Parts: sequence; C-alpha cells; structure tokens
Amino acid sequence: MAKGTVYCCSECGYKSTKWLGKCPECGAWSSFEETDELPKDVKKATSSISVGSRNSDIKVYEFKDVEYTSEDRYRTKYEEFDRLLGGGLLKGEVVLVTGNPGIGKSTLLLQVANSYKDYGDILYISGEESPAQIKNRGERLKISGEGIYIMAETDILNIYEYVISKKPKVVIVDSIQTLYNSSMDSISGTPTQIRECTLKIIEIAKKYNISFFIVGHITKDGKVAGPKLLEHMVDAVFNFEGDEGLYYRILRSVKNRFGSTNEIAVFSMEENGMKEIKNSSEYFLSEREEKNIGSMVVPILEGTKVFLLEVQSLITDSGIGIPKRVVQGYDRNRIQILTAIAEKKLYVPLGMKDLFVNVPGGLSIEDPAADLAVLMSILSVYKGFSISQKIAAIGELGLRGEIRKVFFLERRLKELEKLGFTGVYVPESNRKEIEKKKHKLRIIYLKNLDELLERM
Ligand code: TYD
Ligand code: MG
Repeated sequence: MAKGTVYCCSECGYKSTKWLGKCPECGAWSSFEETDELPKDVKKATSSISVGSRNSDIKVYEFKDVEYTSEDRYRTKYEEFDRLLGGGLLKGEVVLVTGNPGIGKSTLLLQVANSYKDYGDILYISGEESPAQIKNRGERLKISGEGIYIMAETDILNIYEYVISKKPKVVIVDSIQTLYNSSMDSISGTPTQIRECTLKIIEIAKKYNISFFIVGHITKDGKVAGPKLLEHMVDAVFNFEGDEGLYYRILRSVKNRFGSTNEIAVFSMEENGMKEIKNSSEYFLSEREEKNIGSMVVPILEGTKVFLLEVQSLITDSGIGIPKRVVQGYDRNRIQILTAIAEKKLYVPLGMKDLFVNVPGGLSIEDPAADLAVLMSILSVYKGFSISQKIAAIGELGLRGEIRKVFFLERRLKELEKLGFTGVYVPESNRKEIEKKKHKLRIIYLKNLDELLERM
C-alpha cells in the first residue's frame, strides 16, 4: 500500500487503511476502492494555511442581514416539478437526478432546460450522447433550442474553465459517471473520480451561484459506485421510481435541503416527451367499477400531498403446503402481521390460502394508515361481498385489533370529498379533531375490528 492511500467503500464512503471484502458500515461486498487520502487540491490548500494570512476572505453575516428573496428561485412550466424543488430551483443549488437507464432522466431535464432558458443561457453537458442525438430528442420534444448550449466534454477541468467564463444560469450534467478529472490517474466512473468531479461542480455552483442538475445512473444490480456517496454532497436528490416499461413515471424527492422530502410528482411518457399529471389521484383510481370485491381505497400522504390509492387483494387455495404471500406496493412484513390479525380478529383463516396484495399504479405505500384498507380488501374477498367504490378506509392497526389514530386526517378527507367519495371509515381516536368541522362525507368511526365486523 502506498503511503497516504486509503480504501473507501463506494457505497457509503466508509474508509479503511486495508482493503476489505465486506464493508463493516453498510454491509456491501467488494465495494472497496483505493483512493487518495485527501484530494490533491485539498492537500495543497491545507498546507498553505497560516494564521492571520487568510482572514480577509472570511465572510460573516449577522442573521438579520442575510438576504433572501423568493425571486431567487427559477421556475419551469412544470408546476409539479417546481413543487418537488420546494417552489423552484434556487440559484447555486445542486440537484442529483437518479433512476434506471431509459426511465426518462435526459428527456425531462431537456424539457426543464427549455423552460429555464427564459432566465438566461443553459448549458447541457453530455458525455452520453452526441450533440446530434440531443438535437434529435429536442426536435421530438418540439424544443427550438435557442439559449441552450450543448457541450460534448467530459474533463471537469475544461468544464470548470468554460462554465466560469460563460456563467450560464443552469447547467445539466448528463451523466456524472462520464466525467473525469484529467489531473488524476483513475478512469471515469470510479468513486474517486465521481467524488472529485462532484466536489468541483459544487464548488462552481456555490461560488458563482450557478445551478446544476447532475444525472446519476443506477444499474439494475445497484452496483454503480457513486450515487450513494453523491447523495450526501448535493442539495437535493430526485429519484425516478418504477420500470422503464411503465407508461407513468414517478419522481420522488428523496432529499431536499430547500424543500420537503418524499414529495412525489407523477409524469406520463408520451410520444413527444414527459407530461405532468396534475390530478394524480384520478390517475391512480382510473379503471374501476362502481362496486368491487377485494378492492378498497385509501388516501395516503406522500410528503405534503394526499394521493388516493386502491388496494386490491386476491385469495386462492394454496396448491402446495406453504401458503404464498405475493405483495406489490406494500411492505411484505406488514402484510404478514395483517394476515395474523385477520385470522385472530376477523376470523379469516389464511393458513392454507395464497394471498395476493397489489397496489396498482406503481407506487409503494409506506403510510401505515393504509392498514385498515388492506384488511378490508382481504375481508371483502374472503367473504365475497363487494364494497362501494365511493367509500374509503383510513387507519393503522395494532396487534390487539385496535384502530389507531392517523395524522393529517382532515387533509385526507378533503381529497376524498374533492373526488366525490361519499363515505369513509376512520379511527375513533380522530373523532375530536374531525367533528369540529363540517363534512359532506359520511364518517364512520371505528375503535377496533370488532366494531368493523358488526357493520359488515
Ligand atoms: P431517456 O430520457 O433517454 O432516459 P434516461 O436518460 O433516463 O436513460 O428516455 C428514453 C426512453 O424514453 C426511451 O425508451 C424512449 C422514450 N421516449 C419517449 O417515449 N418519448 C419521448 O418523447 C422521448 C424523448 C423518449
Ligand atoms: Mg440519458
């Protein structure tokens, strides 16, 4: 081992003086790569510090004097995209956009670039596609291209020079894996290069108030070094969820220093680019009939927005001895708990049955308030009774069969009313806050599953 060399886990950034097969921090295998202990320019910088010589550079503001105006945010014509950014893109903000190949990262970024050009010049740095290919995509998206500059350069040192001389308003880097720093030995795509190039980008962004979007790839096996490390360095991380094959694309803000996290925006991939779906509840609830067996609607919270989702269940006789639990869009362990509760409290024996639970639309429910809807869909399919599709259920379940309080119930009820629902099951413990307000919905309060059975 050369002096000063350390090994760095490409997944989580854990450092070790020895090469390790498995990372003790995050558990990743074969993720250690040799890196320099400190990047070259950091070494230089630290060695030149002497007391008193640099103090004139340091800027300190009193809290009240710090200027901040909302005009500092760039907006696009895509309201949902701006909402994800917390109301628009801040000057000097660095946003990482990740997702599987072919999901639409380049397409969406070219579209938003076209919106940002009203604020000034936009630079699109492409290490993946030739300028002709980008132009071709732009024509498909009906983008005239004035004010958008395409740069086919991957050396960050050249990019650095160009960007600080031309000072575009927004720069798109597609992708970070193709960039490299020519003063370093390693090839592009290695964790060291990715980290170095990102550091340089952040330096430009913060010094010159230039905003950046960085595309980061994640391969199918999630093996690409970088994105995990990158997340800590940038201001915001947007991740495309879902498969390339799906018509709808969900963009989620996994991290946002200047807005709330876990917000989602739904897009559809059309012939001429991405279109945002403003009323996403209607999309998630399309293709449903008046009455359904084994289907129940729940309003869930994603960030600050409410989405109405449908939960579907199906039960069949188990062909083999071990009953199957096939779950899509819900936590599998949670389903195991709910089936146990169903057996004990609703008298639905599922020991010899295969159970399938599905949330159509490609979104995964993390909100525990969906428990009651899942159980009611299972009960409905087991007993063979249909549920009106104008009725929803909200509530988290405890092991004793109690239905627990949920948060932001008022907001969830509003969304149901907006979409013409007529009734909803809610936890008894939410009664106080709800009764004060007027509702068009018929609200049915439930303390526990015994009360539910009495009504069925
Ligand atoms: P792309 O933006 O290149 O994905 P990424 O940059 O994430 O790898 O999207 C490519 C896919 O999108 C490809 O399958 C073709 C499709 N597509 C459309 O359906 N409509 C369009 O207008 C465009 C430009 C692409
Ligand atoms: Mg691309």
